[in-house]
Amino acid sequence: MNITIVGTGYVGLVTGTTLAELGNTVYCVDIDAKKVERMKEGVVPIYEPGLEEMFLRNIQAQRLFFTTDIKEVLGKSEVIYLALPTPPGEDGSADLSYVLSVANQIGELLMEYKVIVNKSTVPVGTADKVRETIASKTSVEFDVVSNPEFLREGFAVEDSMNPARVIVGSESEKAQEIMAKIYQPFTNTGIPIIFMDEKSSELTKYAANSFLAVKITFMNEIANYCEKVGADVDKVRLGMGSDDRIGHRFLFPGIGYGGSCFPKDVKALIKSGKQEGFDFQILEATEEVNHAQKIILVSEIEKYFEGNLKGKKIAMWGLAFKANTDDIREASSLDNIKLLLEKGAEITAYDSIAEENVRNVLGDQISYAQDMYSTLENADCLLIATEWSEFKNPNFELMAQKMKSKVIFDGRNMFALEQLEDTGFFYKSIGRKTLK
Ligand code: UDX
Repeated sequence: MNITIVGTGYVGLVTGTTLAELGNTVYCVDIDAKKVERMKEGVVPIYEPGLEEMFLRNIQAQRLFFTTDIKEVLGKSEVIYLALPTPPGEDGSADLSYVLSVANQIGELLMEYKVIVNKSTVPVGTADKVRETIASKTSVEFDVVSNPEFLREGFAVEDSMNPARVIVGSESEKAQEIMAKIYQPFTNTGIPIIFMDEKSSELTKYAANSFLAVKITFMNEIANYCEKVGADVDKVRLGMGSDDRIGHRFLFPGIGYGGSCFPKDVKALIKSGKQEGFDFQILEATEEVNHAQKIILVSEIEKYFEGNLKGKKIAMWGLAFKANTDDIREASSLDNIKLLLEKGAEITAYDSIAEENVRNVLGDQISYAQDMYSTLENADCLLIATEWSEFKNPNFELMAQKMKSKVIFDGRNMFALEQLEDTGFFYKSIGRKTLK
């Protein structure tokens, strides 16, 4: 099948590459001419394990093309995916201006039946708006389908090639058939495709992400309570997760959730609720708890240094909002840095993948180290903000030699307590006994 993808951000690029990998001819459209040029030259504009290989393979196979001109490719495609940004407006609601402006353009260019697929996370009712916008410009037949994306950053290739399910929101039989054909390679291997109406599909995405945000946040509260009563969250997590109604995943406490999806989607669902006169009380509480959780270790650090962080040298391991990505959107590291700097601390951070993005935001407000051990030179304490694998089994002796004092605040529970026993380190993690 010939497919156009409008928008080559994270979702668009991964979706386009995946659809090409499934054997389709895919035209990716973006207004950013520089980016399009670079992609044509084989440069992947985002960091995502495994993507480059698949991207290059499909360019070489002449299944993946890039252009700035939607006019050039629209006529060639039976299906048009919209993967455009829907940033939160000032009030938290999703801004649909990019989506609707492209819908307008499609309406003007439409010459024959096409399926328009909403891939971006959009509020309930957006398919209707896209439909109305296109219909106001043309009398040609078309269908609008909601087909939300569930991929995780860092695992995008794995998730997009092996999704838990494919959701297709459309009541048009013609559109359903076309979508079923696109995803046949998945259904052939047993991956379910679930058809529903557009609104339910749109809500499924928000409900799934918000549920996961609540799950993490619930666990963060349990972890904080564990500390109060002397329980160990690792044990509680194992005990809870073994009930398959709960499951083991997304029960890892830490310094809050961040990234491009959970914070934005939780906010947007609260906002959409409000517009209908509906209060998502559980989501409002989740936001509030998460906000506090992100900086929970700052007060612990302050307590450790008896309220005075002036001139304290803090080493930081990890800046990305989670491991395996260079994304720093809504990253807890940034909230911690801001607060620690305000309190007079000096920060040296290490994250070889996300450093560049942080430099673009913070410049030289903090220093950057080239490897995990040199970060520790003369540090008063270490704060771990991202769970990169390379931090999992460090040489504690070398760490102790480098640091001024042997103090670790671990926002990602990287180490088993046994790893640190007898090392003489002060070790404060989340929801577990503090080693002193
Ligand atoms: C998420 C959804 O998983 C994905 O389906 C959706 O399409 C986009 O949003 P992503 O933002 O890439 O994906 O990251 P994810 O791995 O889900 O983690 C989100 C946040 O939760 C991160 O900050 C992570 O550190 C945190 N998290 C995750 C926890 O604190 N504990 C956990 O147990 C899991």
